[in-house]
Order: sequence, then structure tokens, then C-alpha cells
Amino acid sequence: MALVIIRQDGKIDFWKEALKSQSPDLEIFSYYEDHPKEDIVMALIWKHPEGSLSAYPNLKLIASTGAGVDFIFEDPTRPKGIPITRIVDTKLADDMSEHVLAVILAHLKNLDTYKLQQTRGIWNPMNYSRIADFKVGIMGLGELGSVLANDLVRFGFRVQGWSNSRKSIDHIDSFTGEGELSDFLSSTEILVCLLPLTDKTIGILNASLFKKLPKNAFVINVARGGHLVDEDLITMLDNGHLSGAGLVVYHQEPLPESHPFWKHEKIHMTPHHASVSDPQSVIPQILENYRRVLNDKPLLNEISLDKGY
Ligand code: GLV
Repeated sequence: MALVIIRQDGKIDFWKEALKSQSPDLEIFSYYEDHPKEDIVMALIWKHPEGSLSAYPNLKLIASTGAGVDFIFEDPTRPKGIPITRIVDTKLADDMSEHVLAVILAHLKNLDTYKLQQTRGIWNPMNYSRIADFKVGIMGLGELGSVLANDLVRFGFRVQGWSNSRKSIDHIDSFTGEGELSDFLSSTEILVCLLPLTDKTIGILNASLFKKLPKNAFVINVARGGHLVDEDLITMLDNGHLSGAGLVVYHQEPLPESHPFWKHEKIHMTPHHASVSDPQSVIPQILENYRRVLNDKPLLNEISLDKGY
């Protein structure tokens, strides 16, 4: 019985060492070394090469090393019916929350504009906003969204959320379903997308949704590039309906050099690196799932194969 690590970002040895440091006897292979395919029961993966998962006849678990699993569903050759798990981790949620807070505060205090002005030698004091002036609307109140919601409330923001099912979180107004989306949007001044990417949410951040936000709303997408219709964002920024956007995720990563987001003054871009799994923190749940899969026990953080998250 063994585990294979499949990823293409050069971090296989890093993960292997980290796993070995917590479980020295574990049999772990890199996808890229010679290994006995029939011994593999668990694949620990991140953005695997398409088709790689079909090499394992005895595979019992596909484990994402991130919070998201959308990349697994995007592979049409993945073995169907095999359980999939994702990472749920306090550090991952806190890191995301801190990133979103940083982007929001930079927006309120004009930090991006001041940086731009600095590079041009311009001294131009601007009106700034206060936390109390804004209502933040979070799309997706799952493991990450609910931590962000609570942090924003602690900071003094007014917060509301829109999610697949109604949530009960102190001080947060919960909206759900298509029927309540317009009401949610009409009172959201800073929109944060933390939805899972599925057939139902692909392209959800589009012109028709943006038009339902109040004028000057700010949009933050920290979920997946596939949620956003890039041209619609640019149109709504250029026509002045949206005041700006903070992006961490893109349709293609790294974003191609020719993409208009790079040079857009109203877009705050960061690489897809707001919240990254820390091996030392997440390996205990990975090892626990390896033991559980060997003993046919219910898995931690298993996603619904029907819902795709
Ligand atoms: C990062 O995007 C993750 O899904 O963990």
C-alpha cells in the first residue's frame, strides 16, 4: 500500500520530505519516478497532468492538497466514483481572511492610487473611507467565507453573505438562492467571491451581476478565475460603475503578459498566492485519511461528488 504525489509545480520533493518527517515509514512515490502502480491507494494531488490518475487500478482516494477540488473535476479522464477530499485548515482560512482584509483596507485608504502617484511624483491628498462606511457581501460562506465574515465583523464592517444554504452566523445577514441574490447585491458595496467553482457558479461574476451592485462597488475575486467574465469586469470598471477590483485568481495562471488586467489602473492584481497550504499544518489530516482509507473508515473533509465541492 502506498501513496503517490502528483503535481507539476516542482514541489513534490518538498511534500514528500514533509510527509516523511511526520510518518517516516510511509511508502510515498513521486508520479515522476518508477513506482508500482497497483500499490497506490491514495493520490495526493494539486493540478495533476490530465490522465495521470487513470494509471492506478487500486486507487481508493484522491486528495487535493488545497481547499479547492475544481481542477479534479476538470479532468474528464479522472476515475469516477472514487472519494475526493480537500483541505480544511485554520491557517489556510486565516491567510485568506488576512489577504482579503489587506485588499479592502488598501482600497478604503487609497493605497494603490497613492503608490501609483508616488511613482509619478504626484502629491494629491484624496478623501479616504472608513470601515463603518462599508457593507461587505461575501459570496460563499463555507470554511473560508465564514472565517472571513467573522473577522470582518470583528474589524467593524457590516457583513452579509450569500450561499447555497442559509447560514446562521452572529451579526451576519444570510441570503440564499437565486431569489435572494438581487437583494444581496443591491446592498453590497464590497463584493468578495469565495464560491467553489462548479457548473453552477462558472462565469457568475458577469455584467448582469455587476449591474445589480451599487455604483462604485469594489469586487474581490479570491475563488477561481473561472468565476469571472474578464471582459465584463473591464467594461464595468471603464464605464465607472465599479470603482476597482482585487484579483488573486485568473483563467490562465500565470496570467499571459498581453492580458489587459496587467496594466489596468483600477485592478489590484496578486499572483494566486493569497492562501497556500502549509504542509506541516495539513499533513496530520492527510495521514489520518490515509489510515482511514486503509481501514475503510469515513474520511475527513470528503466532498460531495454530486455537488462538486
Ligand atoms: C487554492 O487555491 C486552494 O484551493 O487551496
